[in-house]
Amino acid sequence: MTKPILVVTRRLPPAIEARAARDYDARLSPDDAKVTGADILARAEGAAAVLCCPAERLDAETIGKLPDSVKVIGTFSVGFDHIDLQAARARGIPVVNTPDVLSVATAECAMLLILAAARRAGEGERLIRAGKWTGWAPTQLMGTLVSGRRLGIFGMGRIGRELARMAAGFGMEVHYRDQVRLPAELERGATFHQDDDSFLSVCDVLSLHAPGGEGTRHWLGAERIAKLPRGAVVANAARGTLIDDAALIAALKSGQVAAAGLDVYNNEPRVDPGYLELENVVLLPHLGSATVETRDAMGHLVLDGIDAVLAGRTPRNLVR
Ligand code: DGY
Repeated sequence: MTKPILVVTRRLPPAIEARAARDYDARLSPDDAKVTGADILARAEGAAAVLCCPAERLDAETIGKLPDSVKVIGTFSVGFDHIDLQAARARGIPVVNTPDVLSVATAECAMLLILAAARRAGEGERLIRAGKWTGWAPTQLMGTLVSGRRLGIFGMGRIGRELARMAAGFGMEVHYRDQVRLPAELERGATFHQDDDSFLSVCDVLSLHAPGGEGTRHWLGAERIAKLPRGAVVANAARGTLIDDAALIAALKSGQVAAAGLDVYNNEPRVDPGYLELENVVLLPHLGSATVETRDAMGHLVLDGIDAVLAGRTPRNLVR
């Protein structure tokens, strides 16, 4: 029996490529090179499914030109702001993603950013690597405690709630802003804010966990930054588009924001050069879900979803 063709845009963990090759006529990426919409179309002839990654844009034009044989698009990510869902719906192509399995890893990354920014870990590392550390000094690289401080989580979905759980271990007081208040069992003692002003005013540490896309574009801009307590710490492990870089860079220079930890950027892999000149920002290359266990789990979940659609079942990870 012939197997359905699956286009895989990038190299995936070995166990995932092995499963794809076992169950599909898999067109795996030979070299992990970045692909464009045109590259995907060139590989998609006769394919039943496309497994893409967040670094690729599946815009309306690309989706509109996919061959009729394509019955499902899977993305190796929880975020799907790189896929034009309306265009996929118009073509009747379901999209599946990787929710839940990366929540802990991404929340850990947010905690890493918060701690690294607050405790000036990037500066310390650079000092040692530059051969400039002369030894312990009472006033050297003094940061700020996160323990006992107020953490504001913008977007209290699965990842935001994992971060809240971890932050409780640091004795942080958790506040959150979302469209609706969570039920008590999910809120777990965190304080809900109905409006930005009351929320921002308590964010000694602000961590962003809302989805990307037009609705949240540059949510953290000059006006909202001005409402943070002076000397706040900002972390972003969600999407770079949530932040107006010029505004955050100005605030990092003025001291309105004491330090920031960023894992995601507008226009990745380009990083606003303004950040590179600043000592008080820690920069990671979009590592949120990058653990071996998590990437395996993401691969299995997205393949489960593709399998389900092709078998005529509704996948649990269908993007709605
Ligand atoms: C996602 O899943 O959306 C991340 O950004 C990639 O891990």
